[in-house]
Amino acid sequence: MRKKIVAGNWKMNKNLAGTKTLLSELKTELGQSSNAEIIVAPTFTNLYGAVEALKSSDVTVAAQNMHQATNGAYTGEISADMLKDIGVETVILGHSERRAYFGETDALLVEKVNTALENNMTIIFCFGEELEDRKSDHHFSVVENQLKNGLFHIAETNWKNVVLAYEPVWAIGTGETASPEQAQEMHAFIRSAIAKAYNQDIADAVSILYGGSVKPANAEEIFAKPDVDGGLIGGASLDAKSFAAIANAI
Ligand code: G3P
Repeated sequence: MRKKIVAGNWKMNKNLAGTKTLLSELKTELGQSSNAEIIVAPTFTNLYGAVEALKSSDVTVAAQNMHQATNGAYTGEISADMLKDIGVETVILGHSERRAYFGETDALLVEKVNTALENNMTIIFCFGEELEDRKSDHHFSVVENQLKNGLFHIAETNWKNVVLAYEPVWAIGTGETASPEQAQEMHAFIRSAIAKAYNQDIADAVSILYGGSVKPANAEEIFAKPDVDGGLIGGASLDAKSFAAIANAI
């Protein structure tokens, strides 16, 4: 039985005080009722505080990115060692905003994936098509190529450290959520692509999250789809009640 996961990607939001408040509210709102593993991904400056604040809870803290090198002259970057040093063992890689704004290529993601796996970290690997890809009916090939070129080099044994997050770029931050049917269709395709490249057991075991304008009002219907194993939540994760409502929709 694959894991159900609801992860909050806070992006570049919440200062120290805001993070403390949100984490405190989350601990209250989440309670113990969710059937999902809960993950929150604050900014780098708030990671350690989040780890400390969530020590007595079941909530996992993830980083939103990391550099592929172990250490060295990389101004402004953060390494896997540094994340593990503060108790962060999960990292989001390949988010569309990293790909679009910071030029993260498939080749760079291969290096980051390899470094994360060498450090036995859990990867939330993000991918998804642009609107023009879908309009031109290329969304399946675009998604399969992102997986083949950024992730499908890993060994079978590494898949236990991988969570997938399908995030159609046209749904991120737009309020234009993919329909439950669109999400299910793509998630089933992704699972079949993994089965083809690896085997059915690996395909059946990997959690595939949907991300892109998930809200309390639409979460339950999306999460009810057989190949949707939860969500990677942006804007709605910045409000404790909304994030808890989404987490409890699993
Ligand atoms: O990583 C999750 C994020 O990209 C989705 O953002 O605001 O559409 O939920 P949002």
